[in-house]
Amino acid sequence: MNATIRSTGAYLPPKRVSNQDLAQIIDTSDEWIRSHTGIGSRHLAENETTSEMATEAAREALSRCDISAEELDMILVATSTPDYIGFPATASIVQNNIGALRSGAFDLAAACTGFVYAMECGRGLISSGVARNVLVIGAEKLSSLVNWKDRSTCVLFGDGAGAVVLSACNDDRGFLASRMRSDGSGADALIVRAGGIRNPIRGQNIPEEDLYIAMDGRRVYNFAVQVNTELFEVLPAEAGISIDEIKYIVPHQANVRIIKAAAKRAGIPMEKFYLNIEEYANTSAASIPIALNDLWKDGRLNPGDVIMTLGFGSGLTYGGQLIRL
Ligand code: ACO
Repeated sequence: MNATIRSTGAYLPPKRVSNQDLAQIIDTSDEWIRSHTGIGSRHLAENETTSEMATEAAREALSRCDISAEELDMILVATSTPDYIGFPATASIVQNNIGALRSGAFDLAAACTGFVYAMECGRGLISSGVARNVLVIGAEKLSSLVNWKDRSTCVLFGDGAGAVVLSACNDDRGFLASRMRSDGSGADALIVRAGGIRNPIRGQNIPEEDLYIAMDGRRVYNFAVQVNTELFEVLPAEAGISIDEIKYIVPHQANVRIIKAAAKRAGIPMEKFYLNIEEYANTSAASIPIALNDLWKDGRLNPGDVIMTLGFGSGLTYGGQLIRL
């Protein structure tokens, strides 16, 4: 038994902040941000929590297919910004919100690669016969982890959620190839140092910068270009298809320069990639499902199309899939 995508949904907070808006509060410019990242704006949550954004994305995905919330067997939420540190899982809150009465629910943290990992878990549950329908969500409120005084990181991120319904299929559709990897020696390259049990906030004199995202941008950039180039090679080889047979490559939307550099190395034309980073910036685990939803709602994906997902981020983690719709 294999699994394929039945529908998608997304939620983007209505509050849109342009590069020019940011230039009013920090020492930056639209020109710098665009030329270094490809980002033009980002959507930022105001009162919305991660579970609320995830719930809206889930409702939209369910409204677009013939599977009801009661038919879901599992809800997976990939997030690094859960509503609560520890528990309960954000997925359980979503499960209650949408009335998925007979579903299990758990969260998964693999930073910007989280959605790719969660898709693989969903596929595994379906392939093993444990589940028939799995709701896979990537949802993030990164604005709450960003130091708005640090221009080298705060311009990069946005908030949002995307969801897909994965269902069992018994034909030539489904996952054709997958890879999931981690290089924990790079754990320090992209990190929020305080707030967990190693450096709890309570009762300590925590330096303010440790409460927020710290990034070795150059190191992450080099890692990302290298692993994307690797995925362009290994995934089609495993599936026995050529890059030409892929309709869209849907990468984690971190930085246009990363994608351009990896595409150039692999000799892949930029038209193969679906990019929406200009509007939404980097929404971490939410970026791939938000991009999939853009394509889905515009009618740009059809049954039989092959798509490639590409995730990379803190951990350092990376992974990707080839999926026939
Ligand atoms: N506006 C204006 N100037 C800035 C800004 C800003 N927002 N941010 C940094 N600068 C300045 C720096 O202070 C520095 O100035 P200096 O030369 O006077 O010291 C100059 O720009 C160059 O800074 P660098 O950090 O060397 O810039 P670089 O060209 O490396 O670009 C960037 C930084 C875009 C973060 C790059 O390293 C990168 O793309 N890294 C990949 C990491 C990434 O995309 N992370 C996203 C999250 S991780 C993920 O999702 C995988």
